[in-house]
Amino acid sequence: MADYNSILVEQRDAVTLVTLNRPQALNALNSEVLRELIAAFAAYDADDGQRCLVLTGSEKAFAAGADIKEMSSQGFADMYASDFFAGWEKVTATRKPWIAAVSGFALGGGCEVAMMADFIIAGDNAKFGQPEIKLGVTPGMGGSQRLTLAVGKAKAMEMCLTGRMMNAEEAERAGLVARVVPAASLLDEALKTAAEIAAMPPLAAIAAKEMVNGTFEQSLSQGIRFERRLFHGLFGTADQKEGMAAFVEKRPGNWTGK
Ligand code: CAA
Repeated sequence: MADYNSILVEQRDAVTLVTLNRPQALNALNSEVLRELIAAFAAYDADDGQRCLVLTGSEKAFAAGADIKEMSSQGFADMYASDFFAGWEKVTATRKPWIAAVSGFALGGGCEVAMMADFIIAGDNAKFGQPEIKLGVTPGMGGSQRLTLAVGKAKAMEMCLTGRMMNAEEAERAGLVARVVPAASLLDEALKTAAEIAAMPPLAAIAAKEMVNGTFEQSLSQGIRFERRLFHGLFGTADQKEGMAAFVEKRPGNWTGK
């Protein structure tokens, strides 16, 4: 496995666990973290033996944002020339499913990375926020869009304009997180859910992810047609034959990813 400095990567059967590992900076997301995440997610996507990924941080902080110290002296020309943050699109291009397991602070870029995941499982100590306005900026990694899509205009606007944090309970009520679990069992719960997904027929998992994400990219009628075409396409796979035969024969399916 590649050598990383700011993240830890391990494989647990068919689940890849990626842990942000800059405790001295509450997992602030600097360029090295981004570079390493791009590499780790690409390796996961390319590995046929890996079927789900969990991204997590520490108990105190999933991630306290983009690295303010790295950005503070940058000017417009630097940011524009490097298309700063564009690399995150490589993370969101991951085709296979991944879950964010959030404990503690998920602020600014931390909240935005969590929202890039297919879904979030939160510890009951999680705190989500977009406090960039207090630094004289705004969300820059998709937060204004993904937060609004997740929780609606009223809460997203309030959070972006005041920087107030949402606790785990409110985040679940608002639809930002799929599930809240006791902080102490967060990783176990996330890994258990990931293992459940990893045991699913892999092509159907990719197709399900692609069609749900399509909701945000296209109109309802386009989305429904896209879903139907992908659904039709799955009838060309061995796993569809196996899954339906297994149901009729009252036995578990044996997936080949073909
Ligand atoms: N960037 C760089 N360093 C950070 C950081 C960040 N986003 N967040 C925390 N740190 C560093 C602190 O500077 C501190 O380092 P030193 O010990 O060297 O001083 C260390 O992490 C511990 O942090 P605190 O002492 O502040 O810890 P705390 O428990 O008192 O407070 C906190 C925790 C409320 C999360 C506070 O750290 C904080 O407000 N952090 C910044 C949150 C923020 O504004 N995030 C948005 C960043 S901008 C962004 O993300 C842009 C975007 O859209 C992508």
